[in-house]
Amino acid sequence: MLLRRWIATGVAAVATLGALNTLPATAGHQPNPADQSLRTLGMRHDLFIGTAVDMAALNDPADPQYRQLTASQFSTVTAENVMKWESLEPTRGVYNWGPADELIAFAKQNNQRVRGHVLVWHNQLPGWLTSGVADGSISTAELRDILKNHITNVVKHFKGKIWQWDVVNEAVSDPWDTPSTLHYKGFWAQHLGPDYVADAFRWARAADPKALLFYNDYNIEAFGSGDPANDKTQFVYDMAKQLLAAGVPIDGVGSQGHLGTQYGNFDTLQVAAALKKFADLGLATAFTEVDVRSQITEAMENGDSNEINPRLQASAANYSVLLQACLADRHCLSFTVWGFTDKYSWVPNWFGSEGLANIYDENYQPKRAYNLMKGDLIYSGAPYVLPRIPQRPRR
Ligand code: GLA
Repeated sequence: MLLRRWIATGVAAVATLGALNTLPATAGHQPNPADQSLRTLGMRHDLFIGTAVDMAALNDPADPQYRQLTASQFSTVTAENVMKWESLEPTRGVYNWGPADELIAFAKQNNQRVRGHVLVWHNQLPGWLTSGVADGSISTAELRDILKNHITNVVKHFKGKIWQWDVVNEAVSDPWDTPSTLHYKGFWAQHLGPDYVADAFRWARAADPKALLFYNDYNIEAFGSGDPANDKTQFVYDMAKQLLAAGVPIDGVGSQGHLGTQYGNFDTLQVAAALKKFADLGLATAFTEVDVRSQITEAMENGDSNEINPRLQASAANYSVLLQACLADRHCLSFTVWGFTDKYSWVPNWFGSEGLANIYDENYQPKRAYNLMKGDLIYSGAPYVLPRIPQRPRR
């Protein structure tokens, strides 16, 4: 039986080769890979290409192109905001599932997977929670119960519909924080201590045993000094290793990939080496929020191409570095951009004089970054690029 199947496959292969031999005659009928979508090209490598989705833009009847590109170019979606705590539970005990459910329905309709973002983060928390803790009306013991309930309710609500959950987001400080020695930072660590990280993963696993559970953070694209006191990637690596050793159900580490062209950033070899180290722990990886912004000068605002072009090229090169590194590691499951058009980017709002961070411009024209990503997906192949190894949830 096996042999027959092998022979049959062999015949098919010969037939295919035969077809390939007639390439000159049929070349005109071959689809041009450059005309294929990112999601189609990603599937050559079993790599899911994703975007964060702004629900207001998705539902704007005046902007059908946003919806059309979200559906056609991407095979996984992430809620930019509507799964954050302040959106899901703006009033204590009253959940607003509507917009998040809409995204899930959209994904189903378009045969897309969903990255759940985010269960535990110190930002975009509802006022009732932060003020309750600040004025003492919510005690530490109650806060822990509130967190457990939130994780349980949210994960159960979306059970079976989420591929990867960002369980804990940005738990680790940066070298510019005080104290500068890296530590667990923010609301949850301050009030519950660092053990909340392990608890969160356990509670999430109990609520949906099939979703992959990720830790997600920025500035962890590559290793630095190797000293966890100042190397954030090392700190996160050590944390993941300890969690695994303690039997905590963590399945992956997400690297956000918010880069800026004014920084040195990393090359493909450095990023690929980091992904491999995480994979060697038995973890999946993913790029979860990629965008590459630039400082906008007055000359750029006046259309000076001498200043615009180098930034567009640098931005594209950084997208490419992260994508190539992801392609190179078979445990890197998805590559998600944080919005695809400059029209709705969070960058100008957040950083003021920075922008041009996305792969399409404000008028939905694909930028150099989009084409470079396509080139990587088209021209990368074996032996250094092989299909992904699907990750199973850790028990
Ligand atoms: C972080 C969060 C995202 C998003 C970005 C900025 O990276 O994980 O949800 O808020 O900041 O928009």
